[in-house]
Amino acid sequence: MNSDIAQLVSVALYSPKPDESVAFFHSLLGMEISHREGQSVYLRAYEDFYQYTLKITEAAEPGLEEITWRASSPEALERRVKAIEAAGLGSGWTDQDYGHGRAYQFGTPDGHRMKLLWELDYFHAPPELKSKLRNRPSKRPLRGVPVRRIDHVNLMVSDVPQNRRFMTETLDFRLREQKIGDGGVEVGAWLSVSALVHEAALMRDATGARGRFHHVAYWYGAPQHLLDIADIFSERDVLIEGGPAKHGTTQAYFLYCFEPGGNRVELFGDTGYLIFDPEWQTVVWDVANEVDLEKSSIWFGGQLPRSFYRYGTPVVPGHGLVEIGR
Ligand SMILES: [Fe+2]
Repeated sequence: MNSDIAQLVSVALYSPKPDESVAFFHSLLGMEISHREGQSVYLRAYEDFYQYTLKITEAAEPGLEEITWRASSPEALERRVKAIEAAGLGSGWTDQDYGHGRAYQFGTPDGHRMKLLWELDYFHAPPELKSKLRNRPSKRPLRGVPVRRIDHVNLMVSDVPQNRRFMTETLDFRLREQKIGDGGVEVGAWLSVSALVHEAALMRDATGARGRFHHVAYWYGAPQHLLDIADIFSERDVLIEGGPAKHGTTQAYFLYCFEPGGNRVELFGDTGYLIFDPEWQTVVWDVANEVDLEKSSIWFGGQLPRSFYRYGTPVVPGHGLVEIGR
């Protein structure tokens, strides 16, 4: 049975260094700028079909403004709005956002801002960006190592079960993989609405803070590009936090880095594995067990540093990259 949510549309981030942030996504990750409005810049990868997938807005601190999801149909949108209202987490309708039609805004139990819509604008390339490939919405750019499309978001939460239940019961996500730690406490959840293992992940915030952003991931489709972008990042002093390496959870080839505004960005090599089984049983990692702890995080390719579990945006005082030791 299909989910009432079809896909991740876009992620809106705050940056205290908006010009540098936009230059990072434009010049190094090859993203196109599709619109500018007020203090915001809208960008898309060359195989993103909609008007934009990333919005950068100037603000005093880095962090998440909002995540936008697309419903599977107008009826599915109405069903999910009813469920969100019943959960008491709705904030009402808006039609003010560039490239997006009427959308329903809400928050997760932890306070991450989200919205759900059906109507939105597709990207129509101007002549200079038009690809000869009829199934590619714009030409492959010549800048940096261009990402192909948005893939997923990862959110830090104070309480994984509470927020995971909201994602599955209220938003109609499927729980694909899960990490259970000491004392049977759920510390991570990987959730999807499609054959992808995840469009959203929830991880316990080791600082105990609520509602923080961990990362947005863009997809390459080929692990070689992770080596290429790591080489470029190293030349230009972009801080790489982990990888190129392979996760056990999701089996994805990855690289984590920080854009100049301080938000973490993941680059995804391949997709990992795909799920077509309608009777999929959630994969459970017992991370109180040392083998599962190690292999779920990194299948091969080094280790994830302490910052991966403590650094998020906005930054919690005392848990910046410098204080953590990065
Ligand atoms: Fe990720």
